[in-house]
Amino acid sequence: MQALVLAGGEGTRLRPLTADVPKPVLPLAGRPFLGFMLDWLGRHGVDDVLLSCGFLSDAVEEALGDDWRGIRLRYVREREPLGTGGPLRLAYDEGLLDERLYMLNGDVLCDFDLTAQRERHAETGALATIALTAVEDTSSYGVVPTAPDGQVEAFLEKRPGPAPTNRVNAGCYLLEREVAERIPSGAAASMEHDVFPSLCMNGLYGFHAEGYWMDIGTPERYLEATWDLLEGRIASDLPERDAGGSLVGEGSVVEGARIGPKAVVGERCVVGAGTVVDHAVLHDGVTVGERCALERCIVARDVRIEDGARVEAGAVIGAGAVVAAGATVGAGARVEPGERVG
Ligand code: GTP
Repeated sequence: MQALVLAGGEGTRLRPLTADVPKPVLPLAGRPFLGFMLDWLGRHGVDDVLLSCGFLSDAVEEALGDDWRGIRLRYVREREPLGTGGPLRLAYDEGLLDERLYMLNGDVLCDFDLTAQRERHAETGALATIALTAVEDTSSYGVVPTAPDGQVEAFLEKRPGPAPTNRVNAGCYLLEREVAERIPSGAAASMEHDVFPSLCMNGLYGFHAEGYWMDIGTPERYLEATWDLLEGRIASDLPERDAGGSLVGEGSVVEGARIGPKAVVGERCVVGAGTVVDHAVLHDGVTVGERCALERCIVARDVRIEDGARVEAGAVIGAGAVVAAGATVGAGARVEPGERVG
């Protein structure tokens, strides 16, 4: 079974983390994000994955190579960003597509039953079957109502006021190859705005998916996904967490520091005595001095945080930045890669 994974976006909402690491391979709980997606696909019989890349494509290939635990990985590179639909046509033009395939946004952490979605797709004879997930608050999503026979009636843009359904597009589709023929060659297109609306009540079905779903595209959701993985709210083969539900990577030294609850310390980090790392994520090679306080923040690789510094909730520090002794990075602040604070 084949899957095409969209991995070419710039990930602007996760900047500065995505300045030099593309979102699909950002470390999440210590491993490249797509590793979780590939494991999930593998559990549902996918053994051939096309990674659709553009922005920083070499970094995606460097992180994943040409095989992930027995799944063959191939790369489709676009010269200009083709959006979420154009990459399907490009893979088609390159003669790479099977007759039926999954297509996924490369930023969703999820455990839906893809096998059941595939069965439903076969039963209805759909051209495309889109996983729809229920959300509590629809205000930041477009919603997707379906008719009693399961066909998608419309793609409704987000708007204020009550929505006709709380089901939203989960970024996980099963497609017949001929869907690609409806997309113009060599141009950007959007699955959500161009391709699917034209298939409403005309071969596009919804699959009401149950289970865990999180799009990791903002710092807040990246942190939530991290905590959920640490707590085991979504299945993974992460190493055993400590009593506080935290992970400390190989080669890291954290003696005398309080790591957790629910923190991730990457590989080769040093965290000084008296420092607290609470619900925070440190990527590899981070150095933190003594008596620092890091809370609900994300610290990219090779950052140095000196003695007595504070990093407050929601702050994101780019790779190689320095936070000087005693300085504070305020709540929600963004520190650019290589910048010096204080
Ligand atoms: P933001 O800039 O923060 O919105 O993130 P993004 O660029 O990743 O966009 P979005 O979250 O809407 O993208 C959904 C999925 O499509 C992600 O997995 C992206 O990597 C992917 N994607 C977005 N634009 C492109 C593109 O032009 N080409 C390819 N190949 N993938 C894309």
